[in-house]
Amino acid sequence: KEIHEQPDAVSRVVGRFVDRGARTLAVQDPLSFDFADLSRMTVSACGTAYLAGLIGKYWFERYARLPVDIDVASEFRYREMPLSANDAAFFISQSGETADTLASLRYCRKAGMKIGAVVNVRESTMARESDVVLPTLAGPEIGVASTKAFTCQLSVLASLAVRAGVARGVISKEQEKTLVRALSEAPRYANQVLKLEEQIERIARELSRYSDVLYLGRDTNFPLAMEGALKLKEISYIHAEGYAAGELKHGPIALIDENMPVIVIAPHDRIFEKTVSNMQEVAARGGKIILITDAEGVQTVGHNVAETIVIPHAASFVAPILAAIPVQLLAYHTAVAMGTDVDQPRNL
Ligand code: M6R
Repeated sequence: KEIHEQPDAVSRVVGRFVDRGARTLAVQDPLSFDFADLSRMTVSACGTAYLAGLIGKYWFERYARLPVDIDVASEFRYREMPLSANDAAFFISQSGETADTLASLRYCRKAGMKIGAVVNVRESTMARESDVVLPTLAGPEIGVASTKAFTCQLSVLASLAVRAGVARGVISKEQEKTLVRALSEAPRYANQVLKLEEQIERIARELSRYSDVLYLGRDTNFPLAMEGALKLKEISYIHAEGYAAGELKHGPIALIDENMPVIVIAPHDRIFEKTVSNMQEVAARGGKIILITDAEGVQTVGHNVAETIVIPHAASFVAPILAAIPVQLLAYHTAVAMGTDVDQPRNL
């Protein structure tokens, strides 16, 4: 249910942060700082929220030329990182109550930083203790495995990265329009992705017969690969790992054989060919490839792929928001096929 709510939820976020008609940003929440004054930004979160932040890092650095330090909160709070009172720290959390993230927020507050919270629960402690609250507007997330909160966090971070790019003079009016258009189209594309569910269910039934799965991706699809692995292990209890595709040859390639399905997340982008060469390395070792790509990707890729899930060809800026959905559906249907409790996984 929550996976299916995503087109509406993302649309709510886009509606709040974007002026669809003017194709410009319309961030309603005034910031207590100017992105132009920052020399870097610190981000801290846990689990899926951390992986959303990691994708955000690519966006902030690419579109706003703003360096981002990001850590899992349980490391950040203890690792005695040098912090500057002139910089801002953002905390991402569905609940707004996660202990390590909250402790990191208080740590940055003590260091005199400006504090921003990307939270789903508006009344949460993190929201109360922040200078700026950017609500993710996902609505209540009841399933323990985060789905719509993740894509809404991504939508907020994408909007914020464009805002930072404009404030820092990195993005022209024309580029702002292009990026805003891409964001505005995301909900419609997300709806189309949901139509792939029958195919994904069939692939998931097959996936449920394996005990290990590897996820690969480059660029923003690398954190998404880790999110895919997290989702699968969390609800189906199948062991899964997410890797940067370029790291394959530095170790994980030793695992590849016919018993290791490899899910490659690679909508067509400027480094697609690089990922294709990693797929060839997998295919040469008998690995079964499940490729999540778009129509352009299908045209380029060879025939060494066991299954191809074709999502709409969107701007690569918003591709992770769309590619997240097949990744979630794969985990969901695998868990259903295995008979595990998708809403309330054990031990969580
Ligand atoms: O409420 P939070 O976003 O702070 O929770 C952080 C993590 O516990 C959470 O994202 C977790 O990893 C997901 N529920 C996994 O699906």
